[in-house]
Amino acid sequence: MASLEEIVQLAKKRGFVFPSSEIYDGCAGIYDYGPLGVELANNIKQQWWSSMVRKRQDIVGLDAGIVMHPSVWEASGHTTGFTDPVVVCKKTGKRYRADHLLEDAGVAADERMSQEEFCAIFEQHKEKIQVCDPDDLGTPTFQNLLVSAGIGEGEVYLRGETCQGIYVNFKQVLDSMHMKLPFGIAQIGKAFRNEISPRQFLFRTREFEQMEMQYFCHEDTSSEHFAAFLASRQEALVALGLRKENLRVTEHKNLVFYASAASDIEYHYPFGWKELEGVHDRGTYDLTQHALHAKERLTYFDQDRNEHIVPAVVETSIGVGRLFLALLADAYAVETLDDGTERTVLRFKPSIAPMQVAVLPLFRREGQQRIAHRIVEDLAKHVSAYYDDTGAVGKRYRRADEIGTPFAVTVDHETEENETVTVRDRDSMKQDRVAIEDLASYVNERIN
Ligand code: GAP
Repeated sequence: MASLEEIVQLAKKRGFVFPSSEIYDGCAGIYDYGPLGVELANNIKQQWWSSMVRKRQDIVGLDAGIVMHPSVWEASGHTTGFTDPVVVCKKTGKRYRADHLLEDAGVAADERMSQEEFCAIFEQHKEKIQVCDPDDLGTPTFQNLLVSAGIGEGEVYLRGETCQGIYVNFKQVLDSMHMKLPFGIAQIGKAFRNEISPRQFLFRTREFEQMEMQYFCHEDTSSEHFAAFLASRQEALVALGLRKENLRVTEHKNLVFYASAASDIEYHYPFGWKELEGVHDRGTYDLTQHALHAKERLTYFDQDRNEHIVPAVVETSIGVGRLFLALLADAYAVETLDDGTERTVLRFKPSIAPMQVAVLPLFRREGQQRIAHRIVEDLAKHVSAYYDDTGAVGKRYRRADEIGTPFAVTVDHETEENETVTVRDRDSMKQDRVAIEDLASYVNERIN
């Protein structure tokens, strides 16, 4: 697997991801998706939406505002409990995430511990910490992660997770769409967290996008739905192109008081096994809390049982950036070819590749260029295609490989005679000769 540095470099060089506001020295924990990055991110989101919403009759979509009534965050517990432990080095003034320092020193520190428990463990194992002299490290304090902003006259929070928008709209969706239990609401959107030490590129950022689904069900069936979603989410990640051996499930041992099950689907990133997606059985906590604080009845009338019930919630939650990084890491390969030269290739699954077809006139001849432009225009109705006539064709193949383009169509002298082109496969590098009129169906078939 490539190192994180190699991935970051390629991502920048080839227009996938840029550090935010780089001309002003950047903005910690924020990244911008470039022309190819936005295509890849859109493909990731489209596939999630298609499998989670479009292909299911029991899940509907939502797009709630990023700014919500501040009481949402009181009710959810974020204003008090959404914290991370910070420790400051007295000598350098540097701030560290205390649980990460322990983790790096091989001490398991659980985010679900009480603050007192955490501080006791920190004190006990402080000596093992290597980033600075342990005696210079003070006692951890707890920093709230909610990001605040001013809007109109008031102070608000930018949402710390998208699912709160789902809970507060539960009743509206239920009534307007005549949903029957069990049913889900899915949402893709930005979330913001004042991460103490944003790190590892897209893995931990202060602004990120989440794809979350909340499945409302009878409490006595939640464990069955939990198991089904845990399995189907792993299948979906493999279908997107992640290698099975780079995924594993870790069950949370120490659950928050209201949850009855929680598991992380972890990916083997270049910096180790880390959470990619969370699947949680949250019980009736969220709707109960909002009902209490908003003084609204957030219940479902169960006709069979002739009673109002508070549904339990099974949640699936994944960050677009974390998945994007996993897909880049999984696809990245450097190969030595038969002629001894090297190529870097991103082996994306064709259906998520940011660019699916490169169209290359062999020479910069008017006739070949005209045909190539015509092919791009035609293919662009079906797939993402681009034109490239800069440099030798071998170099153009390498550039196409490096951004993960699965097919390269070359227009040559024979094309001008018989309206056929060559199609080069990124992975095998083998070429087929295909009639231009069959090109769209040839490419479509191989992508799907
Ligand atoms: N609603 C539940 C929730 O937000 P979480 O474990 O805090 O749970 C869910 O976050 C997912 O969101 C994570 O598995 C990860 O993919 C993504 N995520 C969380 N914090 C992130 C951050 N700072 N940067 C990038 N992605 C993040």
